[in-house]
Amino acid sequence: MTTDDAGQSGPGERPTVAEGTGQADLGRRRFFRQFAGDVLNTAVTVMSAAGGLQRDLGPAAAALLDPASAATRAAGLPTAFGAGGAGLGGGSVTPAPDAASGAFRTPFRFGDDDGQLLVIDQRRLPDELVEVEVRSAGDAAAVIRDMIVRGAPAIGQVAAIGLALSARAAADSSALVRQAIIRGAAHSLEASRPTAVNLRWAVDRLLRRYETFGDLSEDGAGIAAALRAEADQIVFETTTDHGRLADFGLAALPTPAGRPLRILTHCNTGPLACGQYGTALGVVQAAHHAGRDVHVWVDETRPYLQGARLTTWELDQAGVPHTLIPDVAAGHFISRGELDVILVGADRIAANGDTANKIGTFTLSVLAARYGVPFLVCAPLSSVDMETPDGSQIPIEERSSHEVTEIRGQRIAPVGTIARNPAFDVTPAELISGIVTEEGVVTAPFEPGLRDAFRRRAARWAAMPRFDPPAPAGPGTGEPG
Ligand code: MRU
Repeated sequence: MTTDDAGQSGPGERPTVAEGTGQADLGRRRFFRQFAGDVLNTAVTVMSAAGGLQRDLGPAAAALLDPASAATRAAGLPTAFGAGGAGLGGGSVTPAPDAASGAFRTPFRFGDDDGQLLVIDQRRLPDELVEVEVRSAGDAAAVIRDMIVRGAPAIGQVAAIGLALSARAAADSSALVRQAIIRGAAHSLEASRPTAVNLRWAVDRLLRRYETFGDLSEDGAGIAAALRAEADQIVFETTTDHGRLADFGLAALPTPAGRPLRILTHCNTGPLACGQYGTALGVVQAAHHAGRDVHVWVDETRPYLQGARLTTWELDQAGVPHTLIPDVAAGHFISRGELDVILVGADRIAANGDTANKIGTFTLSVLAARYGVPFLVCAPLSSVDMETPDGSQIPIEERSSHEVTEIRGQRIAPVGTIARNPAFDVTPAELISGIVTEEGVVTAPFEPGLRDAFRRRAARWAAMPRFDPPAPAGPGTGEPG
């Protein structure tokens, strides 16, 4: 079955607050740091993480994008913004009625009711900050397919929540109908984008949870609660793990004396792509937060321009000094010794360490090897696919040629020009200096190192309490549809 949901509505848009200046960095960093510290150290916070995220961190998160709001004051965050802040590229500002009440703002948050997820439309950044409503797996698959939300860890989380939303909608259906909805939705979500393995990782986790009940279970309410708990757990683990990854990455950075550390990054690996911290950009933010003098060189990331549109936007909010460059200028700067380290993310890392990431990453890795610049892949273990032995087996998404022949709708090539548009390339393991994960930096040979990191991660999370729903009721106790 390829349909993904019953009775779904298309994603709806709602405007929200769009305002930002460099001062948002204080709030953003405090929010991220505070969150990491809290969740790592407080079992109570762990147990109530889902509610806590919405209740306590919602105002803080909302304040990041609405620094002058009541939410800012309520969250105890700085309100001293410079007069006439830059805003989002001069885009219009439309306050949302619930600007102060939601949970996540980067890149999604829970809405007013349990059945609603609000996702920032990243296609419209940096000009406008608009949210799209997701109420089902079908909506989630659509926002992922349409690049409204993008970035490997972010799409995994949105897929998980979307599947849980559909399980909720199907709670009163018969077991057979629910089975068709859940399995069809899972299939549709996994097919929505092919390269990032986080999508499959997240959906499979929810399916395994569903299978503890069994396809013929009539306990629709129990299944819905369990899938929502699993989705919340994924969000929670992702956030926690990315915080750890950032700290390991920070410790791995070169330390030039008497001048800023010059970092090159490609694509967008910040909170918009990952939720909360980010991966490669999380390391950058950790360095900035730690008082390190850093300067980031941002590849524009043709053709979709994630670097130019999104990374610059996030770095601006975080107050991190940065310079945008055309992708093709990277070799020029590297050859002149103007870069100290390259930090990139990953969409799928094969067992041998070969890494699929945004197109252009491979070229950077060759340049880095040629000039002896450390090349670090920053990615959580949810981006590692031990079932794929090497990079040749990673499916590479091929996107519309219009993304090459046009820039944001404006044609730049003669009509009829044939173009190819692979969205990712594979960097061979031998060109990677290290893979920064939530369990530390893994170096070659990567396969045993990654296996060991998986073992340590599993042990760490096994020792943490989960926020589980009550034990599922036995078969036959639910309401038949
Ligand atoms: O096509 P996108 O924008 O979803 O690409 C994914 C990415 O954001 C990058 O490849 C990134 O480096 C890895 S995901 C943090």
